[in-house]
Amino acid sequence: MIDDALLDDAESYARERLSDKRYAHTLRVAEAAERLAKLHGLDPERARLAGLLHDTAREVGKEELLRVAEEDGLPVGDFERERPILLHGPVAAKLSREDLRVEDGEILDAVRAHTTGEPGMGPLALALFVADKIEPGREQSGVEDLRELAPASLHRAARAALEDSISYNERRDRPAHPKSRQTLEWLASGDERPGEV
Ligand SMILES: [Fe+2]
Ligand SMILES: [Fe+2]
Repeated sequence: MIDDALLDDAESYARERLSDKRYAHTLRVAEAAERLAKLHGLDPERARLAGLLHDTAREVGKEELLRVAEEDGLPVGDFERERPILLHGPVAAKLSREDLRVEDGEILDAVRAHTTGEPGMGPLALALFVADKIEPGREQSGVEDLRELAPASLHRAARAALEDSISYNERRDRPAHPKSRQTLEWLASGDERPGEV
């Protein structure tokens, strides 16, 4: 059960830490995550909380992201050193725990995994991952297909979103993060099971 007060605190926390534009994105992601959770039999309030928290470290500076990640023993590889912004999910999870006392492991995992994905990610993490890609402000190519897939299957929508982003990066000669590839392999290898989101 998520306390209404915690949802209010998370909303204020996001408001304090983000520009108007990113805060508006955050609210749209929270709405989208809530809606997907309802459609897939997940807890809408936990999904909303994950949405409110997911980008709260998105405007932390590069050096600070690296410092916090190292201090917390988070995995920092060559990719993260080159593009510290990839750490904003893990750092947001750490801040949520420390500043808002969020202890729900699935919410923290969802926040942590929202940028690259994570092999084996759970239903709540998939709902957030997909919500972040399909919120109404998104206009990337292929987004309409994702919006159609998401109510039917979060697995398939997440898979399509990763395929899109990996090929987008490859066209620009930017290698995809190994975790995105691993997540895609994981999603592609699993046959859909009944009851799976
Ligand atoms: Fe993000
Ligand atoms: Fe986001």
